[in-house]
Amino acid sequence: MDFAKLFSSYPKVIVELGMGDGRLLESLAKNDTRSLYVGIELSKEQCEQARSILDLENVLILQSSFEDIVPAFPDSSADRFIAILPDPAYIDEKKQDVWKPFYRIVHAKIKKNGTFQLVTEMTDKLLRPVSDGDYARWSEWLAASFSSIGFVTDWHEGAPAGYSSRCLDQFRGDPERIRMTTLDMKKSF
Ligand SMILES: C[S@@+](CC[C@H](N)C(=O)[O-])C[C@H]1O[C@@H](n2cnc3c(N)ncnc32)[C@H](O)[C@@H]1O
Repeated sequence: MDFAKLFSSYPKVIVELGMGDGRLLESLAKNDTRSLYVGIELSKEQCEQARSILDLENVLILQSSFEDIVPAFPDSSADRFIAILPDPAYIDEKKQDVWKPFYRIVHAKIKKNGTFQLVTEMTDKLLRPVSDGDYARWSEWLAASFSSIGFVTDWHEGAPAGYSSRCLDQFRGDPERIRMTTLDMKKSF
């Protein structure tokens, strides 16, 4: 696919990594019809579900690994990336040597002053409530990890109020044992 040609025909390009069943993409894209929304999802079943609810001209669904698709984007071509509750392989503290190179590629694909919003969750190994101390240490670690990639990073507890996704809606039901953090990141150069 010629991403350079496609992206240049829209004023803004927003990419969702691991979009699941597409319900967040749908709610964002239908209120912003001038922008192109690209959802990338590995699971065939999730993509089929997304296609069944998404009938918008400004949405492109790609069934593939984002590790294969994102490197094919031109550098500095996307306005915003979104990742809601990525699998542990793409955020776990012990696997950062594996996932950091991918987010460096994401950084390269974002335009100057473009943004990356990532929502992730912390749980206790024994599924006890997460303490404030553990939660703050982990959130600071997350923010520092993305700052080291080159993002200007802010974080706050919880997920954006207007967002709904299959996993978000499920996790919101257990806020003491599943503590979520939103990282709002900007590429400043
Ligand atoms: C925990 S789910 C979250 C789904 C959705 N964002 C939500 O909030 O409901 C993670 C999603 O990422 C997808 N995924 C995992 N690795 C992926 C990859 N390398 N490329 C594309 N999608 C991937 C999974 O198939 C799954 O749908």
